[in-house]
Amino acid sequence: MKAVEYYKYGPPDVLQLNEVEKPTPKDNEILIKVHAAEATKSDCELRSFKFAVNWFWLPLRIALGLRKPKKHILGGYFAGEVESVGKKVSKFNKGDQVFGSAGLRMGAYGEYMALPGNYTIVAKPSNMTFEEAAAVPLGGLNALHFLQKANIQNGEKVLINGAGGSIGTFGVMIAKSMGAMVTAVDSTIKEEMLRRIGADHFFDYTKEDFTKSGQTYDVIFDMVAGSSYSKCVKTLSPKGRYLMANPRLVDMVRSIMSSTFTDKTAVFAFAGEKEEELLALKEMIEGGKIESIIDKIYPIEQAAEAHRRVETEQRLGPVVLSFKNI
Ligand SMILES: NC(=O)c1ccc[n+]([C@@H]2O[C@H](COP(=O)([O-])OP(=O)(O)OC[C@H]3O[C@@H](n4cnc5c(N)ncnc54)[C@H](OP(=O)(O)O)[C@@H]3O)[C@@H](O)[C@H]2O)c1
Repeated sequence: MKAVEYYKYGPPDVLQLNEVEKPTPKDNEILIKVHAAEATKSDCELRSFKFAVNWFWLPLRIALGLRKPKKHILGGYFAGEVESVGKKVSKFNKGDQVFGSAGLRMGAYGEYMALPGNYTIVAKPSNMTFEEAAAVPLGGLNALHFLQKANIQNGEKVLINGAGGSIGTFGVMIAKSMGAMVTAVDSTIKEEMLRRIGADHFFDYTKEDFTKSGQTYDVIFDMVAGSSYSKCVKTLSPKGRYLMANPRLVDMVRSIMSSTFTDKTAVFAFAGEKEEELLALKEMIEGGKIESIIDKIYPIEQAAEAHRRVETEQRLGPVVLSFKNI
């Protein structure tokens, strides 16, 4: 089978399309024929080993390979078809169209992938192509996980910082579906797209600092590494909630103090990627409440080009790799 592999950390050109052995699923696994995978910011961070927040650099480097990557096929989020089912798996049948997360196993940049049957994988939304569905799990699962923690009430003011990316675009749509008034923060080029998917207000972060606008928000959902914790917390209304997807170590400690000693709550989390959350997203998609915003679809052999696109400031939402012509 074909797979995009990398054998050293570095720029997009370290990605190469190779012929590799097709995986054989164990009794508790399913073999998935991957049709599409999202090329994510996290994939780029793993490829280059450059992270927006650095506190987990050493443990991650030890886990993933000190001098070179131990796993050679990236890709955590995918849509595809079940090719075969291990003896101990009852949840899937050959031919099922599915989407989901490969978790830390990764491997979705390969034509076939063997994953445990109990991973977060469910039936693909019936109204989406494989490419559209592959763009859902990362952004959708993260946005839903955080926004559910905020217990958003109808009419509350929610600000999404870094709204134009994979997580942020789903954040805007999910917050709207929860009845919020949404303010999106990102660069000018994203404004039209963000207003189209539901943003009521917009700040261009290259021109304006939303923490200095005089407005306050019930919820701030923050994807941006290096945001000022104190300025964001000050921009919350009484009983406001600050959701940090990219916290620094010091902000994690400060969040415990804020939540214990003030009427504001600060939350950091790592999305658990639960099956029920992916099913909830599927239902929202089939009910027309949310959709995939895809910047561009690249054939798998142009994975390096796709990574370059993910790393530019031009892209509008997720970038997807397609196996259509393989
Ligand atoms: N906690 C978790 O469980 C978890 C899970 C997955 C990912 N993450 C982290 O969350 C972050 C966001 O992920 P993502 O996949 O959504 O990234 P993404 O697709 O790159 O989106 C980030 C967005 O933020 C914008 N941005 C950059 N600087 C900004 C600023 N100062 N103010 C406002 N917006 C700004 C970017 O715009 P430009 O194009 O202008 O740069 C981009 O549109 C990543 O760093 C990732 O590592 C956390």
